[in-house]
Amino acid sequence: MTKRIAILISGRGSNMIALADAIQNGTIPNTEIALVISDQPDAKGLAVADQRGIKTLVIPRRGRKREEHDREIVSVLRAERVDLICLAGYMRVLSPYFVDAFKNRILNIHPSLLPLFPGLDAQRQALEHGAEKSGCTVHYVDNTLDGGPIIAQRTVPVLPGDTVETLSARILAQEHILYPEAVALVLKHG
Ligand code: GRF
Repeated sequence: MTKRIAILISGRGSNMIALADAIQNGTIPNTEIALVISDQPDAKGLAVADQRGIKTLVIPRRGRKREEHDREIVSVLRAERVDLICLAGYMRVLSPYFVDAFKNRILNIHPSLLPLFPGLDAQRQALEHGAEKSGCTVHYVDNTLDGGPIIAQRTVPVLPGDTVETLSARILAQEHILYPEAVALVLKHG
């Protein structure tokens, strides 16, 4: 049966596009994107998803408590019969309610070699610590911040003269390879 994934974004959505491409070219087989959800009405990725004929939905926080917001998202994900949820630049921490509703079925991509440099500005953290290498990680989401079990990683060098921008771009290119590979792996074995 065709697996249905949901992708949650807050911004640019380049990882979402990488996943859509991978579904189209068969890197992630027998899978469709049920919908893309954004908490931000002006997320750039929404327009791109629209253009590709992918269903989109904005579920803004609207001053609500985190769990209230998450309850609305979870009810949509259930109605859409989603098998797997991919966070792709989704800038909100999930409530335990959300995590428990889809136990071991939520993935995230993070721009560092976790467990190093969790949280915001991971690329800046790597530079400030003088790391010689960094990379990206796809992991299961649990109730810790970027601390769930690791599924796959890719490494890049940190080069002399790197800025946050140059390092981020080098890591992002690897994210676009890693995320589809990790999703394919999880769907194959799940
Ligand atoms: C990526 O660097 C991802 O690792 C992090 O947020 C960024 C999202 O970029 N979680 P995009 O929206 O997928 O282009």
